[in-house]
Amino acid sequence: KIYHDDDADVDIVRSKTVAFIGYGNQGRAQALNLRDSEVNNIIIGNIDDDYAKQAQEDGFTPVSIEEAVRQGDILMLLIPDEDQQTVWNEKIRNNIKPNTTLVVASGYNVAFNLLDLPDDMDVVMVAPRMIGAGVRDRYVQNIPYPCFVSVEKDVSGTALATCLSIACAIGATRGNGAVSSSCREEAGIDLFAEQALWPEIMAIFREGYNVLHEAGFSDEAILFDMYLSKEPAEIFERAADEGFVKQLKYHSRTSQYGQLSTMNRHDGKDIREKFRRVLNDNILSGNFAKKWSNTKWAAEELTKEWKEVENAPIVQADQRVREVLKPDRKK
Ligand code: NAI
Repeated sequence: KIYHDDDADVDIVRSKTVAFIGYGNQGRAQALNLRDSEVNNIIIGNIDDDYAKQAQEDGFTPVSIEEAVRQGDILMLLIPDEDQQTVWNEKIRNNIKPNTTLVVASGYNVAFNLLDLPDDMDVVMVAPRMIGAGVRDRYVQNIPYPCFVSVEKDVSGTALATCLSIACAIGATRGNGAVSSSCREEAGIDLFAEQALWPEIMAIFREGYNVLHEAGFSDEAILFDMYLSKEPAEIFERAADEGFVKQLKYHSRTSQYGQLSTMNRHDGKDIREKFRRVLNDNILSGNFAKKWSNTKWAAEELTKEWKEVENAPIVQADQRVREVLKPDRKK
């Protein structure tokens, strides 16, 4: 189901006190959009950092997260996903008013039950598929942008109306409208892209480099052909605009035949099995989310992975080629 401006009543959110927990990429964009939609009771809850200063420069008077939560009828939880559980337990949970609505911009913490939710709390998702700057710019220019919405917990019976009111006030129901989804679906697809699809694509490029390098081809030629030319970006843009396969018409007939005949014979069985394992065992089971909530462990693991990838031949070739290119020679 797709929701449009007509489905929403912005007066609902105008009649509430909206507390922002976080004033970063999404927090700032959404708060400014709400204010321009004549939502007058906005409170910014932020730790004492540069984001709080930004809120002040934008004309808000930031308060502590605890204080913002104490006042809010609607809580916009807009801090990084990996910090939400800790901040929830330490600063939010004990200060929530009765009958409030929690709004998340990504499904992660709700989908994997990482937040201890009060029984009387409504929970909705308003998840722009767009960086914060895009959410703000498009609102100002009156251009639509994609957004997922969902109702996760409806104690009041009015959660959908609140959800759509917020989505409309941040400009997310314009044009093609906001798409009905769920936290599980949003988080599942997002993590799948991060843990199955893109790593496989990156590994394919890595192995492509290894084989071509072994064959004695030059690093410059290989990397230019694979991605330095930005051809993959162009292909994906055409795929989005005209169709996943239809974009092939921009390639030579030789290229079309090579791509289609190989892909059509690729049975994909091994990859499908692997993808299923990642999706079911690691993602939907909540195993990954549980591990990743341990922020100390997460930071150490991420540092280790960065260290390991430095030694990959394609990464070293990339560095060498960039040295030769130098920025001024790229023009
Ligand atoms: P961000 O990284 O811009 O968040 C910065 C904000 O979080 C600041 O207000 C900062 O003070 C606060 N913060 C950071 N660590 C904190 C801590 N330990 N305790 C208290 N406050 C802390 O976050 P971003 O990117 O705006 O993401 C917010 C939510 O929006 C997340 O759920 C994310 O998945 C979602 N989202 C983000 C998108 C993006 O383009 N960045 C797109 C769509 C959804």
